[in-house]
Amino acid sequence: MSRSPESFVRASIRPLAAYGPPRDPAPVPLHLNESPSDIPDDLKRELSARIEAMDWSKYPITDGARLAGEIAAAYGVDPAGVLVGNGSNELLQLLLFACVEPGDKVVVASPSFSLYGLQATALGANVVEVPLRAGGEYRFPVHDLIAASREAKLVLLGSPNNPTGTTLSPAEAEELSSGVRCLLGIDEAYRDFCGQDFTPLLAKNPRVALFRTFSKAFAAAALRAGCMIGAPSLCAELHKIQLPYNLSAVTCLVASELIKRPELVAQRAASVRDERERVARAMRELGITVHPSGANFLLFEQTRRPPKELHAALFRHGVLIRSYPIGLRVSIGSPAHNDAFLAALKAELP
Ligand SMILES: Cc1ncc(COP(=O)(O)O)c(C=O)c1O
Repeated sequence: MSRSPESFVRASIRPLAAYGPPRDPAPVPLHLNESPSDIPDDLKRELSARIEAMDWSKYPITDGARLAGEIAAAYGVDPAGVLVGNGSNELLQLLLFACVEPGDKVVVASPSFSLYGLQATALGANVVEVPLRAGGEYRFPVHDLIAASREAKLVLLGSPNNPTGTTLSPAEAEELSSGVRCLLGIDEAYRDFCGQDFTPLLAKNPRVALFRTFSKAFAAAALRAGCMIGAPSLCAELHKIQLPYNLSAVTCLVASELIKRPELVAQRAASVRDERERVARAMRELGITVHPSGANFLLFEQTRRPPKELHAALFRHGVLIRSYPIGLRVSIGSPAHNDAFLAALKAELP
């Protein structure tokens, strides 16, 4: 019998489950940590006119490098130390692809964004999970991470961490960065919601790589744009295997205009933070344990109903959130969507 096509796929990939939160249709979608507000209409109209005026038959040869330069200027970093990609996840994958060989140790915190372990495992890495410190409030176990990083190729963390919302304090980040001898990747996808900026680490430790995205506070998840900020020498190696003209001219144009308007991000992040604290207060008044969060979502626990049952009950009210073994996670949406979530929660947790 001839071999099936899928039998040719790497042995490290076959046992994996595809990443992907359910995209069930829900009137109140609070499961993907998306921005509750879109890009302003007048800016969208202006950009649409410029997209129409482009020559779509030509490759965007210089667009990516120009965007990398604009991002570098906005963040005050070396332009040679910025790579752009179709979302930050593509750059996480690029770093792993370029650096990880079968059997290499990759350290992640647990729980954290499942994509880190998934992509590293697919490359044959030995993924070591270091549990976050629990006990009331999740914290990064900095000493355990440093200990686990010995003999590792990469430590990959998210701060704020998905799904707990935990942030590395500047002192913890310094300690980690100076204690880890291997590469240290920090996914800063949610940084705008807590004002975190780990770029100062780069000057002290060239093995640090930061990942940022236009998908969250920039409200451009549909565009697929993100960047990696790291040592120019590391970026030069990774660039060798990036696909040519990886970002579309449309994505480059929109991202370029958004990075020049930090006030839009600041306003959006401030209103998400206000809503996050309002929702957290209302939930605590219902007797729910809500973990502190530096992101645009809240992880919560309660003992009155099995979490999966509560998740399903909220869905019957049209509210879709995420269920994890450690609790439920709700994204901060528009005030109306947050109110719908709170009303459903009140109805289901009498
Ligand atoms: C931890 C984390 N990093 C990154 C992203 C976003 O990735 P991208 O920039 O590819 O949209 C997400 C999206 O949910 C996330 O949770």
